Amino acid sequence: MKISVSIPEVKQWVKAQKIAGKTVGLVPTMGYLHEGHASLIKRCLAENDVVVVSNFVNPTQFGVGEDLADYPRDFNQDCTLCEALGVDMVFHPDSQEMYNAPHVSVAVDTLSETLCGKTRPIHFSGVCTVVCKLFNIVAPDRAYFGEKDAQQLAIIRKM
Ligand code: PAF
Repeated sequence: MKISVSIPEVKQWVKAQKIAGKTVGLVPTMGYLHEGHASLIKRCLAENDVVVVSNFVNPTQFGVGEDLADYPRDFNQDCTLCEALGVDMVFHPDSQEMYNAPHVSVAVDTLSETLCGKTRPIHFSGVCTVVCKLFNIVAPDRAYFGEKDAQQLAIIRKM
């Protein structure tokens, strides 16, 4: 299993897979993987030739006073699980790799302003921004998201 922290390296690796005729699946995560993630990864493995799992605690989806610093992390354990499942690449960038000034963001209005969006005004824009970046970096044939957060799912589908 390859582990990369570099956007150009991931792009190059994906390009080589596509030239070889392989389909690429992506499972975006913020790490601290559990059974739910494992089931998405298994489905991704079954439906694609190669699988990339992104592991990035995305700062732009955390508002002031939210739990970015306290968000649980266990990268070694995550890699052990991914390797056991047969994941081909784990993409583990840092914030500097993902976000450069000037900052570009993506937002879906209306859907992002109700329910959780009322108390977390920047949250869904942060989610859309990072997912859009991941789609551009990995250019997956298919991407897999949990259904626990129905609002997030609806917003990502719309994006
Ligand atoms: O649901 C999550 O884990 C995150 O919001 C996501 C989609 C990986 C974006 O950071």
